[in-house]
Amino acid sequence: MNHLRTRAVHAGQKPDPASGAIATPISQTSAFAYGTLENGAAIFAGEADGYRYSRFANPTVKALEDKIADLEGAETAVAFSSGTAAVSSVVLSQLSPGDEIVFLGPLYGGTESLFNAFDGRFGIRVVDAAERGLEASLSPATRLIWVETLTNPTLHLHDLTAVTALARARGITTVADNTFCSPYLTRPLEHGIDLVMHSMTKYLGGHGDSTGGVLAGAERLIAPVRATGMGHVGGNLAPHEAFLILRGVKTLPLRMAAHCAGAAEVAAFLSSHPAVAATHYPGLASHPQHALARRQMEGGYGGIVSFELARGTRRAAAALLDNLKLFTQAVSLGDVDSLACHPASTTHSFISPEARARSGIGEGLIRLSVGIEHPQDLIADLREALAASAAAE
Ligand SMILES: Cc1ncc(COP(=O)(O)O)c(C=O)c1O
Repeated sequence: MNHLRTRAVHAGQKPDPASGAIATPISQTSAFAYGTLENGAAIFAGEADGYRYSRFANPTVKALEDKIADLEGAETAVAFSSGTAAVSSVVLSQLSPGDEIVFLGPLYGGTESLFNAFDGRFGIRVVDAAERGLEASLSPATRLIWVETLTNPTLHLHDLTAVTALARARGITTVADNTFCSPYLTRPLEHGIDLVMHSMTKYLGGHGDSTGGVLAGAERLIAPVRATGMGHVGGNLAPHEAFLILRGVKTLPLRMAAHCAGAAEVAAFLSSHPAVAATHYPGLASHPQHALARRQMEGGYGGIVSFELARGTRRAAAALLDNLKLFTQAVSLGDVDSLACHPASTTHSFISPEARARSGIGEGLIRLSVGIEHPQDLIADLREALAASAAAE
C-alpha cells in the first residue's frame, strides 16, 4: 500500500472518463438522467449502479467519500453537510427509545448538547462516563460508546484499545470523533473502533471555507446511517463543498506536519511563561498522557494547544484574546490560519456550568488552533498579548 501522503493525493480520484479532467469535476446537479424506466427502476431497487438524486449520492461527493475511507482504512464512508449532521444521523439510525449512549467526556460542546437534546425528547438515555468510569457506566441498554481521539478543548486522550475491548465483549458499537487528529495522526479503526467520524470543516478541508462531516467504517454499519442521514435527515454534502474538501485533503499530510511543528513550539513557549498556569498539549512530556499519546498518535501531536491563564478570569482571557493580531478570535479549528477562542463563552457555552467545571473548562482557559504561519511570528503575537493582558489588571 502507498504512503498516506500519496493516497491523500490519489485515493478516490481518477481522470474524468468523459473529458480527461484531472481535478474531480463538480457534479452540480440535483438529479441524474437514467434513460429508461427499466433502468430507473433497477437503480431505485439497488439492482443496477447509477446515480439518481444528489441527496442520496453524487459523483463529486463519492470521490471524497472514497478518499476518506482509504485514508481511515475503512471499507466505505458517507459524507454529510456538517459534522453535526453525521452525529445526528448516527444517533437517529442506531438508537431507539430506552437505549443508552455512553460518552467519554469532555466532548465538543455541540455534540454533548445534541446528545442531551435527544436524551430529553426521544427517550434515549445519555450517560457521561466521567461520573463513574466507562466500565461501570455500561449496561445491557448501552448501544453506543462515543469518544473523541483528542478531546475538545482540554486535549485529553482515551485509550482506544481499552475502550474497544470493553465494547466488543458486550456487542456495543464504538464511534470515535477523529476531528482533532485527522487520519494523519490517528486511525481509530486500527485500534478496533467501529466507526470513525470527522467534522471535515476542520483539518480535512483545512482552509476554513466549507462545512462537512463524514463517517467511515464497515458497509454493514454505514449503510443504515446513510439511509437515515440522506433519506430522513437530508444531511447530504453539497458537490461544491465536496470539491473544496477534496482539494484540501490532498495537502492534509503537509499541512498536518506544519500544524504539529508549530503547535509544539507554541506549547513549549506557553509552558514556560509565568502568566500561564497550565499548558495542555499531548506532545509535552508534562502532559499526563504523554506515553499514551506516543503510542496512539503518529507523526506528531496535533495543532491544538489549550492553556490556562494564571489569572483565571474572563477579564484576563478577554485582555489576552482582544490583543492578539495574528491569531483571529473565532471558533472552529484546523484552518491554515491560526485561530483563538475562549471555550467557556463560545464552543462550550451550551453545556451547563457544572459540566464545564467537571471537564476543566474554566474562565481562564484559551484554545489555540495553530495554523501554518511561521511559529516564531505566532509566539511573538502571544508574547505581546500576554503582556497586554498582564498590564490590563
Ligand atoms: C470535535 C468536533 N466534533 C464535531 C464538531 C461539529 O462539526 P460541524 O461544525 O462541522 O458540524 C466540531 C465542531 O467544532 C468539533 O470540534
